[in-house]
Amino acid sequence: MKLLRFLLLFITIQLSAQQGGMWIPSLLEGMNEDEMHSLGSKLSAEDIYSVNQSSLKDAIAHFNGGCTSEVISPKGLLLTNHHCGFSQIQSHSSLENDYLKDGFWAMTLENELPNEGLYVEFIVRIEDVTKQALEGVTDTMDERERQAKINSNTNAVEKNTVKEDWQDTKVKAFYEGNQYFLFVTERFEDIRLVGAPPSSIGKFGSDTDNWVWPRHTGDFSMFRIYANKDNKPAKYSPDNVPYTPRHYLPVSLDGVSEDDFTMVFGFPGRTEEYLPAVAIKQIVEKVNPSNIAIREAALKVIDANMKASDKVRIQYASKQARIANSWKKWIGENLGIKKSNAIEERGKLETEFTNALKEKGLEAKYGHLLPEFDRLYKEFEPVNVKRNAFVEVFIRNVELMMLMFRMTQLEQAVSNGEDAFNKSKQSTIERMTAFYKDYDATVDKGVYEAVMPLYTANYDSSIYDKTSFSDLESALKVMEGTPEEVVAKLNADPAYQYTKPFVEEFYTSINPEWQRLNTEINALQTQYMTAQMLALPNKRYFPDANSTLRVTYGKVNGYYPRDAVYYLPVSYLDGVMEKYVPGDYEFDVPQRLQDLYKTKDYGQYADSNGKMPVCFIGTNHTTGGNSGSPAIDAHGNLIGLNFDRVWEGTMSDMNYDPNICRNIMVDVRYVLFIIDKYAGATRLIDEMTLVHPKAKKGKNKKKN
Ligand code: ARG
Ligand code: GLU
Repeated sequence: MKLLRFLLLFITIQLSAQQGGMWIPSLLEGMNEDEMHSLGSKLSAEDIYSVNQSSLKDAIAHFNGGCTSEVISPKGLLLTNHHCGFSQIQSHSSLENDYLKDGFWAMTLENELPNEGLYVEFIVRIEDVTKQALEGVTDTMDERERQAKINSNTNAVEKNTVKEDWQDTKVKAFYEGNQYFLFVTERFEDIRLVGAPPSSIGKFGSDTDNWVWPRHTGDFSMFRIYANKDNKPAKYSPDNVPYTPRHYLPVSLDGVSEDDFTMVFGFPGRTEEYLPAVAIKQIVEKVNPSNIAIREAALKVIDANMKASDKVRIQYASKQARIANSWKKWIGENLGIKKSNAIEERGKLETEFTNALKEKGLEAKYGHLLPEFDRLYKEFEPVNVKRNAFVEVFIRNVELMMLMFRMTQLEQAVSNGEDAFNKSKQSTIERMTAFYKDYDATVDKGVYEAVMPLYTANYDSSIYDKTSFSDLESALKVMEGTPEEVVAKLNADPAYQYTKPFVEEFYTSINPEWQRLNTEINALQTQYMTAQMLALPNKRYFPDANSTLRVTYGKVNGYYPRDAVYYLPVSYLDGVMEKYVPGDYEFDVPQRLQDLYKTKDYGQYADSNGKMPVCFIGTNHTTGGNSGSPAIDAHGNLIGLNFDRVWEGTMSDMNYDPNICRNIMVDVRYVLFIIDKYAGATRLIDEMTLVHPKAKKGKNKKKN
């Protein structure tokens, strides 16, 4: 371990203008700070992350565990993506108040809408606890013993850390389990919906444009954090007041030009940048194609039904978007891996690694790793594909199967006593109520018929006609009575009878086998990380994303997607009008936006060329979870909102290539323009701090 820390230090001293990587905000001093400065940043590491004074990190909040959001006013106004607030916008929508279609704007604080279950989390501080986490861990331990020891160590750290009552702690593994960091967090639970554009702006281009540049989506929505009278986190109460943040981002009106420095600050979810070639090959050739086929079958049915009925469109909007998003990403990922020759390139790196092991006398210790990977991944392949398919069918796509899966958990709870059962029953009933609000049995039956043949030859769609679970009322009847009665009724239900053996197969064979091999693979990956840093110390090592706060930085930059084609880095409202298809479900443009375009009524939000900017791209290394992350300029001002990546670069989760990997951001001036000129919600603009950092340059220099 000491050696690894020494290596990390060594890497930190190296200087280069390379890009890529998702860095830990508390460790920017040195290499990252220097790189950022060489790219044009004027920020110090302390401006970005500080424990002693307010810093940029105090404006960044994890949004409901999956997206990022940022505070942009002294009154807790929160900005995130439209697709991040989508399920909240959807749940307030009905045929009468169709906020998905028409947008929503709270014109007063009183009109802001509470959202049950929604929370945001800030990072109070980050500490390296590697020493504590690995205390007593020895080379002779097998992987299970090792993990158990680490878990008990990190649990102790979480428990014993000094913190305030309203704060929380968690320890996360970095560098594949070679380093551990503690996060002290603060969670707010009264988060209200403030505004959202219509989907024809916030989701303009929908699935056709998703993961694609050039893009013209105004992908933003606004919320507000409420706190109790002491400005501390509190459950929803009408007495709560707007939160006063430790820091909020000023908003720049000066926009971006090619080569400008940009930084994206947020919570990337998961990357796998250090996989062996054999693993990438398995994902691209086996796992992705299987998952893609299942989702494609489901989407065909859902899409057709959404187009045929407004009721179904509202019910399925959020579910469809979730299914379609990964489906399309996997397709792009596969194309990008091929196009960038990632598997061959990774193979070359492995040759380089093997040679370096020999040169450095490390072969005896680490020479077995790559052959071991080959052996394990071969064994892993069928069960990995099967487990993925189970998850896709029974947990992600067929809703009745998802509900029956849940019911098997309810039946399981019986063995833990009556209290446990009643608790599980109560939460099942709550979940069912939400489930049926957006459930259409005919649509789901269609999905079942399309998807099931991809999993098993044993399927029978008559279960949809016979089950008690086709509507809330008869489903609730099944829940009545003693635990034994409920279980008996469940087991008499045809949908339950059908699902149960698949779930049993999953728990008794598929999952244990998958877990066993996955544990071995992870253990190998931990050693492989150490070995790579030892053998090839001059490479660029950043920790894989793990849903913790990270900084990534780069420049506003176009790219060459293919021979003779260059993509400019900025898109304009002209492009929205070019794509406009009247009445189309993806490319319609609201009349009011057309009018504003005709009169060029852009106010202070126009670019210096008189046009209305919409989106821009940069070399920031981002992934899922970075949605809603602020794009920040050289001075710490908000210039945009991250929401996507470009088609050619979606493979960056396994293979970041600075030549073609770009993140897509909506220009904050478009956000302001929509709020102000389109929606007339000027009270929101009034509470922000709008700045002109470029005009100020030279005259009125900021610190540093
Ligand atoms: N691709 C972006 C992300 O991964 C945006 C997804 C939302 N848009 C959509 N059409 N589903 O989350
Ligand atoms: N849209 C993604 C999200 O929801 C971000 C884009 C990406 O995956 O890079 O987090």
